[in-house]
Amino acid sequence: MQPAPEELVARALEAAKRAHAPYSSFRVGAALAAASGYVYAGANVENASYPCGICAERAAVARAVAEGETRFTAIAVAALRPDGAIAAGCTPCGLCRQTLREFAAPGDFKVYVADSASSWRTFTLAELLPESFGPEALKPPQT
Ligand code: THU
Repeated sequence: MQPAPEELVARALEAAKRAHAPYSSFRVGAALAAASGYVYAGANVENASYPCGICAERAAVARAVAEGETRFTAIAVAALRPDGAIAAGCTPCGLCRQTLREFAAPGDFKVYVADSASSWRTFTLAELLPESFGPEALKPPQT
């Protein structure tokens, strides 16, 4: 069974609280639903060498793939401002959108972006990453 959006948003918010973001103080959490029904959480992990940091969404993907998951149906993203309040409208960055595209059917994959602990907006990956490039582009043409 697939998790409800409210469960994913709650899991994303929990993960955001565990982010390692001492440089931006912008803590982000993601909860990624696999086709199996399992949910994998991720948080942004920053580094003193700034470019080494990773976003919450890609951290969740890496974690899920390491557990053997390669098909995903939805992700929730929630962010916390330095004062601890929810930062509304934290949509995945471009790098994360492309990373999700690798494992998702863009028209079906849902992205829930938290605006508060109990409200979110829903997008499809196709809306956030139109005309996207994906793995099928590298397959030989079918005869
Ligand atoms: N960040 C995420 O983790 N996900 C997003 O969707 C946007 C940005 C992180 C990266 C960096 O650690 C901090 O938020 C500020 O950009």
